[in-house]
Amino acid sequence: MIKIKASYEIEAMRAAGQITAATFQRLAEAIVPGVTTGELDDIAARFIRSNNATCSFWHYNGYPAHICTSVNGQVVHGIPSKHTVLHEGDIVSIDIGVCYRGYHGDSAKTFPVGKINSEAEKLIRVTRESFYEGLKQAQAGNRIFDIGAAIQGHAEKNGYSVVRSLVGHGVGSALHEDPEVPNFGIAGRGARLLAGMTLAIEPMVNQGTYHVNTLPDQWTVVTADGKLSAHYEHSVLIRDGEAEILTTC
Ligand code: MF3
Ligand code: CO
Repeated sequence: MIKIKASYEIEAMRAAGQITAATFQRLAEAIVPGVTTGELDDIAARFIRSNNATCSFWHYNGYPAHICTSVNGQVVHGIPSKHTVLHEGDIVSIDIGVCYRGYHGDSAKTFPVGKINSEAEKLIRVTRESFYEGLKQAQAGNRIFDIGAAIQGHAEKNGYSVVRSLVGHGVGSALHEDPEVPNFGIAGRGARLLAGMTLAIEPMVNQGTYHVNTLPDQWTVVTADGKLSAHYEHSVLIRDGEAEILTTC
């Protein structure tokens, strides 16, 4: 069942989304060569709690950290660690969930660590662009797969692949709600979008194959070929015309 949010729920989601976006601003200055992903996890957790909010991922299905930090060939759900040092030239995908007054904001971005090569830069840029191509389709009256088809089209046109086994999702009083929001598919299919639905749209784009594996830690998803992967996610409100991005400040 896809929920239509009431205006008080949307207000709470805007507030959660603002804290999510502000957490990215706080982390951006900390993502430099030599920092550990464990330090980034600490910074994010302290910042979120100082805003009277909680970390949506903490203990979610047993997840052992506050944010996800996925380095280079890691796609999503990388677990922060004080032993994982970021080096010049790495890319790191940061995924943050914030819960405020019972509602969640969910957003992800891939950051360069120091100076990175032009291929890595292009992957980050095309992943962000793919999100915005999907966003253009995220309008009342369109269908779920209009979003995925647009994302897939842009990523593949640039020589990349979209991960199939992980998808975007509804978001609200639960971190993951109906519907699934795939980053691929055939336009015109799937549930019709209605004003008041709130979705997390989150392309995961790979340089090589779309196949992925999960590491023995049971969380970290990695590309099957070890090539780079990037992630870009916002929680958005469906309305007539272009969707409103909730995870912004
Ligand atoms: N943002 C992630 C997603 O939508 C949520 C991570 S769940 C956690 O898939 F368990 F890893 F925290
Ligand atoms: Co998500």
